[in-house]
Amino acid sequence: MATTESRVTIHMAASLDGFIARKDGSVDWLETSDEFAGGDTMDPVVVEAFLKTIDCYVMGSRTYETALNFEAKGLGWAYGEKPTFILTHRQLPRTRANVEFHSGDLASFVNGRLRPAFRNIWFVGGGVVAAECLRLGLADEVCYSILPILIGHGIPFFERLDGDIALHLAEVKAYKSGMVELRYEVRK
Ligand SMILES: NC(=O)c1ccc[n+]([C@@H]2O[C@H](COP(=O)([O-])OP(=O)(O)OC[C@H]3O[C@@H](n4cnc5c(N)ncnc54)[C@H](OP(=O)(O)O)[C@@H]3O)[C@@H](O)[C@H]2O)c1
Repeated sequence: MATTESRVTIHMAASLDGFIARKDGSVDWLETSDEFAGGDTMDPVVVEAFLKTIDCYVMGSRTYETALNFEAKGLGWAYGEKPTFILTHRQLPRTRANVEFHSGDLASFVNGRLRPAFRNIWFVGGGVVAAECLRLGLADEVCYSILPILIGHGIPFFERLDGDIALHLAEVKAYKSGMVELRYEVRK
């Protein structure tokens, strides 16, 4: 049974045309050179304090494989020591103790296992998992960081939705880097 206090957030960064990666999975375009004079600066202390409020991460296997590649290239592991759940039907390498694999019914996993145990549950991609989470009515909010670039084609933020999902715009922040962060609550 879901607790009323838990919150499921989908968070990703995308190009203005709605892609989270190029077709080949690359995300080189996430580094842009724009400057928006009226924007906020990302204060590392604030970012660190914010990351502490996240209680666990959930991601699809392809996002996990990207994270493993980043780590292998010496670019670090973005999810710290927080419990991290990987959705997959395959046997994938487990490189740290806080990583766990799950396959099967996502709704019972989120409502039966994650919500009773964690308050701030972050779905960090990719597009297949973000869409599945929304289709099943599991998400409370969507955080969409738009980068100042168009890449033409790629992997979409929401891979396949069957119908409309009404949202409430709850917060907008613009940064000096030209990134705009939109936070929407999912209207139930
Ligand atoms: N820009 C950003 O912020 C951002 C964030 C995250 C990811 N990305 C990029 O997005 C790309 C990956 O996104 P994607 O949409 O292709 O894939 P994805 O959502 O990361 O992973 C999809 C895979 O997860 C597994 N899966 C999904 N639901 C499942 C369930 N209920 N039970 C078991 N397994 C399940 C399936 O793989 P199996 O075959 O293993 O079963 C599925 O093919 C990568 O290139 C990554 O770099 C970008």
